[in-house]
Amino acid sequence: MPDNAIPAFSVSKTRGKVYSISMKVLIIGSGGREHALAWKLAQSSAVEKIYAAPGNGGTVAEEKTENLSLGGADPVSREGQAALLEFAQKENIALTVVGPEAPLAAGIADRFRAAGLAIVGPGQKAALLETSKVYSKSFMEKYGIRAAKSENFTSLASALAYAEKRAPPLVIKADGLASGKGVVIAADNGEAEETLTRFMKDGELGEAGKSVVIEEYLNGLEVSVLAAVSVGGPDGKKGVIKPFLPARDHKRRFEGGRGPNTGGMGAIAPVPDFTPALHADFLDSILAPTLKGMEAEKMDYRGFIFFGLMIKEGRCHLLEYNARLGDPETQAVLPLMDSDFAGLCRAIVDGTLSDFPIEWKAGAVCAPVLAAGGYPGPVRGGDPITVNRAGLDAAGAKLFVAGARREAGGGLRTSGGRVLAVSALGGNAGDARKKAYEALSFVNFQGMVYRKDIGVEHGEQYHE
Ligand code: AMP
Ligand code: GLY
Repeated sequence: MPDNAIPAFSVSKTRGKVYSISMKVLIIGSGGREHALAWKLAQSSAVEKIYAAPGNGGTVAEEKTENLSLGGADPVSREGQAALLEFAQKENIALTVVGPEAPLAAGIADRFRAAGLAIVGPGQKAALLETSKVYSKSFMEKYGIRAAKSENFTSLASALAYAEKRAPPLVIKADGLASGKGVVIAADNGEAEETLTRFMKDGELGEAGKSVVIEEYLNGLEVSVLAAVSVGGPDGKKGVIKPFLPARDHKRRFEGGRGPNTGGMGAIAPVPDFTPALHADFLDSILAPTLKGMEAEKMDYRGFIFFGLMIKEGRCHLLEYNARLGDPETQAVLPLMDSDFAGLCRAIVDGTLSDFPIEWKAGAVCAPVLAAGGYPGPVRGGDPITVNRAGLDAAGAKLFVAGARREAGGGLRTSGGRVLAVSALGGNAGDARKKAYEALSFVNFQGMVYRKDIGVEHGEQYHE
């Protein structure tokens, strides 16, 4: 075994599930996705203790879970990563799960792996699939992955000359991470020119906008497929990508897909219009060549991947990869997973994912997001949240906290734009929607806003 291999973990298998000795887990991140991760990991009999760094008002109240501030350690900074690594070593953390992309882009997975620790998340180089649009589009082209046609540019003059000759709308994507501000759908050539100038000349997004991708606009329905990936690793086994149930995030602020883009106003899983034929097309045209490309590029990709798909004329097109789970998709998908999540995470890092069956509950989950008034613009924080726990429990719904903190007395106060997601399991999508919206009446805070059409079929088809 090479020096930096992850120590073997004793597991015994019972009817497809993995049970193991007790382990301590560290989750990195502070959103609704990380709350769902803590909730799901806490259900594993193998998990003894969970630390959420920094976590939020939801993680702190989960079973087995403690929030960890480490003096405000920022997982993106060198010092913050060093503090997290030191903590993980001192506490014998058997598994670290990274929620957001920024720490991955800053190399946290490489750092933990180099120290011999098990971490779920790709290294900095493999995370380029998300963190550089230029890289990811070149990868898609090289491996024949069906995607929008595109060109990469590093010079403003050539980008402008190209854009001028194309019929709008044009999709302009800044190369680097830009907190959701890096993709512009330019309705006409004037907007394309103005956007390219802002990104490439004015440096509005800093280095992230110095190179851009200009791509063809695809009008269709979006689907998110999250998946577990185990490629590369110490013993170089054949790689595997196992997709989860498909989900749909509703990204625009208002009903019918109108209004500004947001971090996500709610999700449904599975997606009724993602038919078995589309699923088969996804496996052939997107997943299989992605796996082939990862192996050919000798990536060490042990983590989750997010395929952002656009369905057009009965075919899947890949819009983007994310090197992580989606938010709020995770809050809809994880409640449907029947498999032991800690076991799945260990299978990813140990290279045994191909032997790990991922099982799913029947039915569907609908998870509308409750946001603070003004979102996605500036919001005020500090509003008390009232929760009728008995009502929520009776409705069979789970509240996932995104932007809320827990007060000493146990109450929640808003602390962000997206505050909560209400996840409800139903027999089918319609039933899950009905349950989620009933459950939502048991939660309230000043200025609370939400979309009334999460999970409605074709709910995002409108494009401005
Ligand atoms: P991306 O970060 O590449 O997924 O882009 C963010 C969002 O922009 C996507 O979720 C889509 O809603 C939209 N988008 C990106 N690329 C395209 C495209 N080629 N055609 C239409 N919409 C797109
Ligand atoms: N829901 C979209 C994302 O996580 O990027």
